[in-house]
Amino acid sequence: MVSSLPLQAPRVPAAHGLPDRFVLTADHYTNPRWLPIEQQAIFRRAWLYVGDGERLNQPGMVWARSVAGTPLLIVRDNDGELRAFYNVCPHRAAILSPQVGIHSCQRLVCPYHAWVYDLAGDLVGVPSQDQFPDSFQKPDFALRSVRLETWSGFMFVCFDDTAPPLAEFLGSIPEYLGRHRTAATQRLVAKQYTVGCNWKNYHDNTLCDYHVAIAHRTTLNPIQGPIRRYRHQLETFVNLLYTPITADWQAENSVLPTLQGRSREGFFTYGIYPNLHLLGLPNGLLIWLRIEPLAAASCQVALEIYGDPEYCPPAETLLTDFEAFMQEDMVITESVQQGYASGVYTPGPVNGLEARIIHQQQLIWKALTAAGGAE
Ligand code: FES
Ligand SMILES: [Fe+2]
Repeated sequence: MVSSLPLQAPRVPAAHGLPDRFVLTADHYTNPRWLPIEQQAIFRRAWLYVGDGERLNQPGMVWARSVAGTPLLIVRDNDGELRAFYNVCPHRAAILSPQVGIHSCQRLVCPYHAWVYDLAGDLVGVPSQDQFPDSFQKPDFALRSVRLETWSGFMFVCFDDTAPPLAEFLGSIPEYLGRHRTAATQRLVAKQYTVGCNWKNYHDNTLCDYHVAIAHRTTLNPIQGPIRRYRHQLETFVNLLYTPITADWQAENSVLPTLQGRSREGFFTYGIYPNLHLLGLPNGLLIWLRIEPLAAASCQVALEIYGDPEYCPPAETLLTDFEAFMQEDMVITESVQQGYASGVYTPGPVNGLEARIIHQQQLIWKALTAAGGAE
């Protein structure tokens, strides 16, 4: 059975023990000096969503990609386990698999001196091995692994061995959205957008429950329903906006039969530290929005929509509906970026409907402070 978290009507941040002003200043959104600090203090310490494990659905499938500016290899090994390694050869630092994207192979062969690794990351072949000193031992030069865990088939990696397990990091998400995925769930939409704003600016906007009734009056607002029905839950690393389904939505959509309790009664809009959003709907839709920094005033927003086609609207409809309010957000966030860059802005007060923003800003601020980067 799904238990009940103490979902609350939105309250001013002080009621949650949070600051009543934005702790991040205009400088945090405009000064390029923050980018390397953020990579180290934030992105290399948190769990980072990388995609659906089903994309590597056979042993021997390998996904070479960059995560937080770091080259990674995600591998389905011969036992069917997913593993992540740095895509850097321990011999002389060549990128082991330069072919970005998903491909199949049984062995990883370095293009520089042809050291050979198996899919478990063990070094199994070395040309001219007799030319190395006798002390050379292949087990000493296995690929360096990176933590990889999955939730509901979705993969996350973490560079920090001291971070809590993924299930703990995700808070109430497994409880409320753990049954949304069915055996027939597919990736229906995958699209990326470049936006002219700082990544935190776009993250703030997606956490903002104050602008929906105004900026998304005819798009998102009718789906989320009236503000008086909004409910918040602020957890350690994630926060939630819960809105009960409206009569209009119910009339036009089907509910996934496997869902129970609140999971079938409302929309779950999660903000996940540091740059991720997950929406779960009672028709089984799971929607990821991931915001990656590109430069101080530029970010990439990756949209992925997963659903069971039997219960969801067609992919074209989903994309059209999503892009309608994403376009509205892009206009706003680019305008806010100009305001941050104007040199005249100091942070204004925080409304209760902005509590989710300040919750995430506090986590970002703490990470920067711990790294000695915040002043
Ligand atoms: S750098 Fe990879 S084998 Fe030498
Ligand atoms: Fe928005």
